[in-house]
Amino acid sequence: MTPGKPISITELPEPSVEGRLTTRSGELDRVLGGGIVPGSIILLGGEPGVGKSTLLLQMATALARSGRRVLYASGEESLHQIQQRARRLDALEPQVFLLAETNLAAILLGAESVDPAVLIVDSVQTTTAPELASAAGSVSQVREVCARLVEHGKRHGRAVVLVGHVTKDGQIAGPRALEHLVDTVIYFESDAQPPLRVLRAEKNRFGASGELAMFEMAGDGLREVAEPSAVLLRDRPTDRPGTVVTAVMEGTRAMLVEVQALVSPGFPGSLRRTTVGFDHQRLAMLAAVLARAEVPVHDKDLFVNVAGGLRVDEPAADLAVAVAIQSSMRRRAVPAGLIVLGEVGLTGEVRPAPRLDQRLAEAARHGFHRAVVPRSARPVDAPKGMETLMVRTVEDALDAAFEGT
Ligand code: TYD
Ligand code: MG
Repeated sequence: MTPGKPISITELPEPSVEGRLTTRSGELDRVLGGGIVPGSIILLGGEPGVGKSTLLLQMATALARSGRRVLYASGEESLHQIQQRARRLDALEPQVFLLAETNLAAILLGAESVDPAVLIVDSVQTTTAPELASAAGSVSQVREVCARLVEHGKRHGRAVVLVGHVTKDGQIAGPRALEHLVDTVIYFESDAQPPLRVLRAEKNRFGASGELAMFEMAGDGLREVAEPSAVLLRDRPTDRPGTVVTAVMEGTRAMLVEVQALVSPGFPGSLRRTTVGFDHQRLAMLAAVLARAEVPVHDKDLFVNVAGGLRVDEPAADLAVAVAIQSSMRRRAVPAGLIVLGEVGLTGEVRPAPRLDQRLAEAARHGFHRAVVPRSARPVDAPKGMETLMVRTVEDALDAAFEGT
């Protein structure tokens, strides 16, 4: 390729994924799209205390153990604090260099002298370019700091990982204002049950966005959770009314989650439709569809919760919510080993869930043997030992789910 010269769309070579740096954490690598791309800039956002610095220190150590040099510049902690933490994490590596600094120019000078493969800047809010008139942490300051780090990274082929604090409402000057400047945006969240942490790729120029990984915060740092489905279903009561398992796609991976519903008598005029981890509007729609299907929810309070603190924003979870509501309503548990999949439309039709085969495979792997699934023209490639109950409408699905109970 000659710079500046137009090239035919078919002649463009495949982008190289070689040379990606592995973080030695399969989960972190996956969220990053297969490791760190040299010269790319990654923004790691999250609330204070979620574990961003811990994750990056562990990452720095892993990179060093693969023979890469890393510079960890912190404006948040002293050198001794970082060293102490590294000691606790059993993460002391000579190829990890530390700099306690808030001045961007000094950080860039440090990077020139250490020449690291990866530069970590913790955090964008504490890093300043003093020649700018605006205050540290202001929108214009964090944008400028970020833009200069992008420029530095591209020029030197050096990956830059930038930490950004987010507050609960995600509004304050910070990550949201930087998303368009960087290649990859990952968020670290602690909404799940402690000590679980969820890492999610919201944007990735070098991989799939929506990719999710789970970590557990322990006394010796963050540990990857290799089987999120198992962890999310760990404490599930199987014999109680109002709980149903479904499989959602998180990026390229299917994950099993428990949907819970509680139906209780409401006061006319002030009915409650409350959700945690599920879209409020979708619940309102499902309630209307159920009422039409002769499930008398019109005068009831409805509560829906996705157990484990996960957010489910996939329509394919609709049918599980509908079945959970019916289960609570009838005070009858669904049979053990049942999984429910499908989107519900306004006419009460059950619509296909994408990647059904992959979802069913995940369910089978965790011992589920019966599935309520949307009827489709294409035959379902169900795993061995999995019985599929194909349904066309919500009414069919409710009948199928409670069959034999
Ligand atoms: P930290 O990485 O400092 O969070 P952030 O950089 O996002 O603000 O870690 C936050 C919390 O994690 C802190 O309250 C202590 C806890 N923690 C552990 O439980 N185990 C550990 O090994 C470490 C290093 C921290
Ligand atoms: Mg920190």
